[in-house]
Amino acid sequence: MNLRVSVIGTNYLGATHAAGMAEFGHRVIGVDIDHERIATLSSGRSHIYEVGLEPMLALHTQSGRLRFTTDYRLIADWADVHFLALGTPSGASGAADLSQLEAAVDALGPLLTRPTLVVGKSTVPVGTAVRLQDRLRALAPAGDGIEVAWNPEFLREGFAVEDTLRPDRLVFGVQSEDALELLEQVYAIPLTESTPVVHCDLATAELIKTAANAFLATKISFINSMAQMCQAAGGDVVLLADAIGYDQRIGREFLNAGLGFGGGCLPKDIRALAVRAEGLGVGVLAQLIEAVEAINAGQRVELAELAVAQLGGDVRGARIAVLGAAFKPGTDDTRNSPALTVAEHLYAAGAEVAIYDPQARLPPRPGFTQVATLDEAVTGAEIVLHLTEWPEFRYLDPERLGALAKNKIIIDGRLKLHAPTWRDAGWKVVQIGRAATL
Ligand code: UGA
Repeated sequence: MNLRVSVIGTNYLGATHAAGMAEFGHRVIGVDIDHERIATLSSGRSHIYEVGLEPMLALHTQSGRLRFTTDYRLIADWADVHFLALGTPSGASGAADLSQLEAAVDALGPLLTRPTLVVGKSTVPVGTAVRLQDRLRALAPAGDGIEVAWNPEFLREGFAVEDTLRPDRLVFGVQSEDALELLEQVYAIPLTESTPVVHCDLATAELIKTAANAFLATKISFINSMAQMCQAAGGDVVLLADAIGYDQRIGREFLNAGLGFGGGCLPKDIRALAVRAEGLGVGVLAQLIEAVEAINAGQRVELAELAVAQLGGDVRGARIAVLGAAFKPGTDDTRNSPALTVAEHLYAAGAEVAIYDPQARLPPRPGFTQVATLDEAVTGAEIVLHLTEWPEFRYLDPERLGALAKNKIIIDGRLKLHAPTWRDAGWKVVQIGRAATL
């Protein structure tokens, strides 16, 4: 059955969710307070780089099935179900800042005159759903007719459309049969494709999402600490990851060692989980997360220091080429980007940093020059740093780049370059935790 669906918040999560809901056949209105973003989305264009999103936006805005507005009055009593897809950035203490969610609830609540389901998709500290429900019920003329459910989102940037249309699991945190049935209608299409579903209470649904991100972050920091062991003892972390990854209980994914994790989700979600764990008296989880964070931060510092060491301990005035600015390939998102932390460190040490990224556009800032082509970044460089593993970097021609660079030294911060090819072309290749013979 086709439903009327509202999606409040239209950034990475909300824009993709709104387009995905339209693709599932529902009539959708996306809401945001950002007029410029709403104008862009209304014209069928995307304000973010995400493979496959724009064609879906174009198709469904043209057919009229998908609309965008800044006016909550258009959605309040219109929608059968409201999704909350707002950002929950880190607040000053590291706890999640819920002000965007609260503002949305405050705008929506007073307009809800009939019983409605409001479904949270944002990543939140456990306990938030119940608090938001209390707040909505206090504000809404429909009072206790308002029910909150939690349906966390697991999409990855760069694969957002794919993950939305074909999720690997669905989590329905609900308090009633009615809410469950409505969510089953919303997701009727993936459910017919045998997508696994977990029905649970609100707290479990909230915790599932933070646990997933914390586990992924832990996996990455674990393999990075093994990279340190390999570096110290002369082993090879890529072969190690391959070998342990063959064990299905471990799995090879998220065992790519290198610069560690960044982005708008993993770092802030695990910090918020640590703060919440402390608050609930589960200090041991907070300690585990602190170790994960310390390993992650250490990788960035070590890489920057390695670059300085390669240039004899002094990078003042040295031209350094940085390949990659996005926090990972496939996105233009530079939030908490490991590549930028390294670049900042080197700039602070006196280097001239030239950054090239195929998609990410940096706001002008002192210290870095963002250049339009890779050749421009490498020309005259005393050292080249490969910091975001865009596929196009993997197949660069080391012979040609060798003619542009001042020194043929490259640090492969993502362990993705085929070092023998580079070495054959006369380059010194540095990879933390990889045997130099491979
Ligand atoms: C992450 C989760 O993977 C999603 O499931 C989740 O829905 C999302 O956060 C969210 O909470 O919204 P995302 O932030 O898009 O998705 O990025 P990931 O693909 O998880 O990568 C995170 C970081 O880990 C990147 O900087 C990446 O370079 C790094 N990484 C990943 C590694 O260093 N090694 C690996 O083996 C894998």
